[in-house]
Amino acid sequence: MSEYRIAVVVGSLRRESFNRKLAHALIKLGPQEFSFEHLTISDLPLYNQDDDANPAEPVKRLKGEIAEAQGLLFVTPEYNRSMPGVLKNALDHASRPYGQNAWAGKPAGVIGASIGSIGTAIAQQHLRNSLAYLDVPTLGQPEAFIHVKEGLFDEAGNIGNEDSKKFLQNWMDQYVEWVIKYAA
Ligand SMILES: Cc1cc2nc3c(=O)[nH]c(=O)nc-3n(C[C@H](O)[C@H](O)[C@H](O)COP(=O)(O)O)c2cc1C
Repeated sequence: MSEYRIAVVVGSLRRESFNRKLAHALIKLGPQEFSFEHLTISDLPLYNQDDDANPAEPVKRLKGEIAEAQGLLFVTPEYNRSMPGVLKNALDHASRPYGQNAWAGKPAGVIGASIGSIGTAIAQQHLRNSLAYLDVPTLGQPEAFIHVKEGLFDEAGNIGNEDSKKFLQNWMDQYVEWVIKYAA
């Protein structure tokens, strides 16, 4: 039985998203005692502080799912040298109302894939900034900036080459240790 439930947040809504593929492939590298639940962020309204007292159903659902998780896994593209707006919107929603930040204290990992050569480095740094403010203990090392190239994924959606697989397995192993160390 799974002892650690991980809430997975993918920062892309695109149907053929490389980051969603990366999330699925990564999850397969996780241990048996970890289960991974994808959070839906596509149906969240744009955050409006006027709605704090009466949040929409998708916002309540999001906060409930985060509350049930022992850890967080963010897999994000880089949009214009930052995180995508849909991801920031989700961060903002679950951080409010003031004093009811659902993210706080949940150990997290941050990873991302891009067709660009710096592989989401700046988006991840911006995300880390927000997570620090939100009181989310975030794995510092190893960093993982995945440059999407032909052959990264195989037909079955697994990591398609041994070097990348080894690198991501090590990342997942360190992430798992981090979650176990900091999960409440
Ligand atoms: C609005 C927009 C902005 C982008 N800006 C960047 C960027 O700053 N850095 C980068 O490496 N790639 C950038 N890209 C390219 C993305 O890395 C590429 O579209 C990637 O496939 C998106 O992730 P996804 O496949 O998970 O949707 C941008 C793409 C879009 C649509």
